[in-house]
Formats: sequence, structure tokens, C-alpha cells
Amino acid sequence: MQKLLKTFEDYLLDNLPLSNTFHPYFEEALGQMLKAGGKRFRPMLLLCVVESKKPLLLNNSLPVALGLEMLHTYSLVHDDLPAMDNADLRRGFETIHKKYDEVTAILVGDALNTESFKQIVNAPLHNDIKIDLIKTLSTDGGIDGMIIGQAIDCFFENQKLELNQLEFLHIHKTAKLIAASLKMGAIISEYDLEIQEKLYNFGIDLGLLFQIQDDIIDETQSEEEAGKTTQNDSAKNSFVNLLGLEGAIKSADDLADKCIGELNSLDENLKNSLNELLLKYINRHKN
Ligand code: IPE
Ligand code: IPE
Ligand code: MG
Ligand code: MG
Ligand code: MG
Repeated sequence: MQKLLKTFEDYLLDNLPLSNTFHPYFEEALGQMLKAGGKRFRPMLLLCVVESKKPLLLNNSLPVALGLEMLHTYSLVHDDLPAMDNADLRRGFETIHKKYDEVTAILVGDALNTESFKQIVNAPLHNDIKIDLIKTLSTDGGIDGMIIGQAIDCFFENQKLELNQLEFLHIHKTAKLIAASLKMGAIISEYDLEIQEKLYNFGIDLGLLFQIQDDIIDETQSEEEAGKTTQNDSAKNSFVNLLGLEGAIKSADDLADKCIGELNSLDENLKNSLNELLLKYINRHKN
């Protein structure tokens, strides 16, 4: 897993988006959040699935993994904007709007969004596979996924949602892109539709768990520990606000057990490839 992560990081640094013009700092701002780091959970999910069946396609999958990370990074740059969560720190650095200005942060987000699809289009993979990848990313990262989740997240600040609405919000905001990451790995590997769907459904549970853990982090960690602004969810329909910290931890524990069961029910190759990465994340709220 460490080797795969290193391969991805090297590829990312060699393929930062370029905008070499007379704008004094746009190109620097464009690469900043990608370079800053982050856990790279989504690209690693994709690459681990590819590794389980088509290891020879790993290199050709790197642009797709980078595209996925670009789309996720765009969502973070916009999420931190004053009109959304108004956060000053991300991935251990000042947020783009804070360091430069709001216009730059909006446009860096826009650019990372479109660049993500350009990465996929230019990947050395079959066209029918690339169309399927683009369909998945644009759905789960778009209006049927992350975008509507973010819209609901922000619109319903200071208004309590029902538990089923809370799940809808977090499944769309976070879980669908995580589910898409596994599915995109399965598309590249040409796993059959049944396995693609199984991985996608597993990804929804995993993504929901990931967001509950994120809400726990907001409540319990300092900004130094988290590398991002925390104690920032007071107006949000976070799991901690709706269930209390103990309740959120309990629901993370329950979902973690479910995810372990789902992981263990995967084919041997998939399980072996995903095990190390997933155990680390499934259990991260227990540390
Ligand atoms: C943060 O995502 C936003 C959520 C969807 C919870 P990550 O926790 O994956 O952030 P990075 O990529 O590691 O910075
Ligand atoms: C953001 O969720 C999810 C995205 C789609 C970016 P949060 O607002 O909880 O993410 P953090 O805590 O700022 O990373
Ligand atoms: Mg947010
Ligand atoms: Mg936020
Ligand atoms: Mg959060």
C-alpha cells in the first residue's frame, strides 16, 4: 500500500495542472491544495481495486486516480469558501481564499473540476471504459451526488433534519464519491456488473462511516491534529449534533462492524488488495 501511495504521489507531483500565463499566482494556487497532501483515500481505493485484478493497468490508471483526487480537492476548496463552511485551514495550510483571494479559490475549484475529466479523457485506457468512468464520476461527484449533498448541507444549516434526511445528505455529500472510487477501479479492471454494484454498495457504507468519523474529528480534534479548521460544525446537521458524541461513536462502531463484514465477503483478491487500506480507515475513530 505504501508503495502504491508513493507511486501516486510521484505521479501527482509530475502532473500538477499548469496555467503558465502572466497571471502572477494562479498556477501556484492551482497546484497548492493538491501538493499540500491529504490522505488520498479515494485514489487509493481505486488503485487497490485495479491491483486486485489488473496490476498491469496500474500505471495507466494513475491519471484516473489523479482525476478523482482533483475532483475531491475541488470540492474541498469550495467547501472552505466563506459562503460555504468558511474555513481558514486545509491540509495543514491556509485555504486558497485565505492565502490568495476568493475569486482565485472559486476559479481553482472550477479548474480542478474540469481538469479531473481531462485527466480521464487522456488516460491510456479504452474509450468505452473512459466513458463509463466519466459517467460514474460526473454522476456521483455531480448533481446526483456530492453537489446535492453540499447544497442540502448548507441550506439546512440551523434546521434539524430527520435521521433519514441526515443519511441522504451524507450519502450524497461524501459516500457517493467514495463508492464511485471503488466502482471506477472495478470499471478499469473490467469486473462484472454484479461485483461493480457490490463494491459500490460497500462504498456507500464505507463513505457514510467516513463522514461520521469526520464529524467526530470536527468535535474532538484540534486544528493542528486535523490539519483543517475544526469545531466548525455547530450549525450543521452533523452526526455529532444529531446523535451526540457518544451516539455518533456508537453509530460509527456499528457501521464499522458492517463494513468489516462486507470486506470479508469480497473475493479473495479484492479482499487482499483492500484489506490494509480499509482496516486503517474503518477503525480510525477508535484511535
Ligand atoms: C474531507 O475529506 C471531506 C469529507 C468528505 C469528509 P478527506 O478527509 O478525505 O480530506 P483529505 O483528502 O484527506 O484532505
Ligand atoms: C465536506 O464535508 C464534504 C465535501 C463534499 C467537501 P465537511 O465540510 O464536513 O468536510 P471538512 O470537515 O470541511 O473537511
Ligand atoms: Mg462542508
Ligand atoms: Mg467543511
Ligand atoms: Mg467535516
